[in-house]
Amino acid sequence: MHSPVRVGLMGLGTVGSGVVEIMAKHAEQLAHRSGGPIEISRILVRDASKTRSVPVALERITTDAGEILDDPSIDIVVELIGCPGGRVEPARSYIAGALERGKHVVTANKDVIAKHGRELIQLAREHRVGLYFEAAVAGGIPIIKSIKEALVANEVQAIMGIINGTTNYMLTKMAHEGRPFEEVLREAQEMGYAEADPTSDVEGHDAAYKLAILASLAFETPVAVDDVYREGITRVTPEDMAYADELGYVIKLLAIAKAHEETIEARVHPTMVPKEHPLAAVNDVFNAIFIEGDAVGELMFYGRGAGKLPTGSAVVADIVEAAQNIRRGVDGRLGGAVREKRVLSPLEVVSSYYVHAKVVDSPGVLAQIAKAFGDHEVSISSVIQKGRGEDPVSLVFVTHKVLERNMQAALKQIAALPVVRSVANVIRVEGE
Ligand code: NAP
Ligand code: HSE
Repeated sequence: MHSPVRVGLMGLGTVGSGVVEIMAKHAEQLAHRSGGPIEISRILVRDASKTRSVPVALERITTDAGEILDDPSIDIVVELIGCPGGRVEPARSYIAGALERGKHVVTANKDVIAKHGRELIQLAREHRVGLYFEAAVAGGIPIIKSIKEALVANEVQAIMGIINGTTNYMLTKMAHEGRPFEEVLREAQEMGYAEADPTSDVEGHDAAYKLAILASLAFETPVAVDDVYREGITRVTPEDMAYADELGYVIKLLAIAKAHEETIEARVHPTMVPKEHPLAAVNDVFNAIFIEGDAVGELMFYGRGAGKLPTGSAVVADIVEAAQNIRRGVDGRLGGAVREKRVLSPLEVVSSYYVHAKVVDSPGVLAQIAKAFGDHEVSISSVIQKGRGEDPVSLVFVTHKVLERNMQAALKQIAALPVVRSVANVIRVEGE
């Protein structure tokens, strides 16, 4: 047996506790699988007096990051402090500091990797160490390793993912129980899925961070978080859910990235997906990522995108891989951008659309709206009218694929028609 590989754990919250629990429970197997023991020798927390949910020796706890970063016996730093209040510091500096000192780093921090991944990968390369971040995207689902290793023979052409569990739980409840957004948000908060400030989840920021990481890796081109077009789920109503059902769709918050010859697209928005598409069956807090590769065809990864043990599972897998690489004396596979593809603006993207307009109920209204669509080369695939004699009534359209620039021009013309009270919602349709 080799001497132990030593880990400095930063953060002992939800995920940190899961890591300690898994490493204690499977110590023997993990030692066998990584070629020798792995030991957590120091743990950084904010408040050393807190009672912990897992047994840890008090003398291992510290509130001084230097006791990990400057300890030459520590081989791997595991950063699980996150970004409280949305701030990347001090997590970014701790990761960079560890890499500069020749330590391998494992992190679950999507914010830091999405915003600073490129420079951190470069730093790891310069110092000949590994930077591992499997848990940063889709918790327990091994999607990063799959893209970097198992799918290495492919050009990845498209990724469509449900990569935010909180919003998937809320949309599932809205669809199955006909309840409004505010009510299911309160329930998600009571269940501990949604944060007290749910903005990051419901406005799609969390999914945009994860998509930026996935698209950068899959397409080997830098994709910044600001390159990802983003719409949250706050405007989805039970009425839209009911129309989706009638038209043969379900509404999901999808993270979509597609590769073209010279460009890519990356977007997060509520999306109508045909009921027979594999992503339509992904409910509650579950995550799933649907990938198309040129050699392998279509694949789907499904599992838990968050939680103590699922996320801990991904972190521990990274720790074991880092330990194996340390024992073999190799740096670890880093990947990174090898080409620069332009990210399309939303107006340059092609999609089908669901359009829900509130209109005056009188003869000729449908013809006026159809003409506005026709003027901008938007072709209609189906129409529903509900209500009679009320003001307003709902007119619902699904279009064929069209350039968003044309769609926006048509919508502007429709909204200006005197017979149209409002365009209540517009939702993209994918996966047909
Ligand atoms: P958490 O429960 O809030 O735990 C954070 C831990 O970090 C706590 O132990 C806290 O110390 C410590 N900490 C925070 N700021 C610190 C600082 N400035 N100095 C020292 N210690 C500090 O967070 P979490 O849910 O485990 O998330 C950790 C990371 O995993 C985040 O990047 C998150 O995005 C990612 N992640 C989480 C999940 C999930 O299911 N929770 C899933 C995927 C990815 P105290 O305990 O003393 O307060
Ligand atoms: N808040 C995220 C979700 C989990 O609901 O999926 C952490 O990334």
